[in-house]
Amino acid sequence: MSKEDNDNGVKEMLTKIRNWGYVFVDGTPYDDPEATKALLERIAFIRVTHYGGFYDFTPNLAMADTAYTNLALAAHTDTTYFSDPAGLQAFHLLSHQPAPDANPDDAVASGGKSLLVDGYRAAFVLKARNPKAFHILSTVGLQWQANGNEGISISPYKLFPVIELGDNGELHRIRWNNDDRGAVPFGQAFSPTEWYEAAREWDKIIRSKEAERWVQLEPGKTLIFDNWRVLHGRSAFSGIRRICGGYINRDDYISRWKNTMRRPRAPKPQLDQ
Ligand SMILES: [Fe+2]
Repeated sequence: MSKEDNDNGVKEMLTKIRNWGYVFVDGTPYDDPEATKALLERIAFIRVTHYGGFYDFTPNLAMADTAYTNLALAAHTDTTYFSDPAGLQAFHLLSHQPAPDANPDDAVASGGKSLLVDGYRAAFVLKARNPKAFHILSTVGLQWQANGNEGISISPYKLFPVIELGDNGELHRIRWNNDDRGAVPFGQAFSPTEWYEAAREWDKIIRSKEAERWVQLEPGKTLIFDNWRVLHGRSAFSGIRRICGGYINRDDYISRWKNTMRRPRAPKPQLDQ
């Protein structure tokens, strides 16, 4: 879809996210990250976290070793350590070039494909294949945490399960990030051993070929996805990537979407004088 400068474009974009979990917005200018920021702000204000708000990130050449061998990231959801994890997340690859001081023989900019996994679909598959595992992952609450940054110690106000369901069993939210997950607690209806068995089943599903969708991000193509539903990751890459993006709160995204679906109010009838 093209970025349109009216609410029909926002409506189409958000409806695709509601239906499919993600959208690609083609034609986003990439010479200036401000255009991507403006695109996100058409939805709602950008959420600020301890990492900042809108970000525009280029690997620091002082850490060129890691920039040359940027590692793969397995599928996960972001900000599992908030009581209210980010609703939407956006990535826009502004450029991908060989590192300037790389050996000419190795001067390549390759890899870095993005991975998307529909967590709702994975939950349905788990429920059909292994109802006990689904029950465990949707009922056993876990600690989630962010402690990696100096002065930061964030965890939700209560334990949350991997799969959160509504009162009628409908899927609401997936929380999955091994790096942010605390110990699996004792004293719940299922033991940590049973939880890990269930988690292994889940892991198998989200790593299966049928679950994975790999896409190559390109300058001009902004990816926006539902962080409550879609897990993301990436393959390893070489070269220097400049990526910008940000988070938007779930409630603000849904509010915006609902309002774009409303018909404009009919003009008030004019009374003859
Ligand atoms: Fe992430």
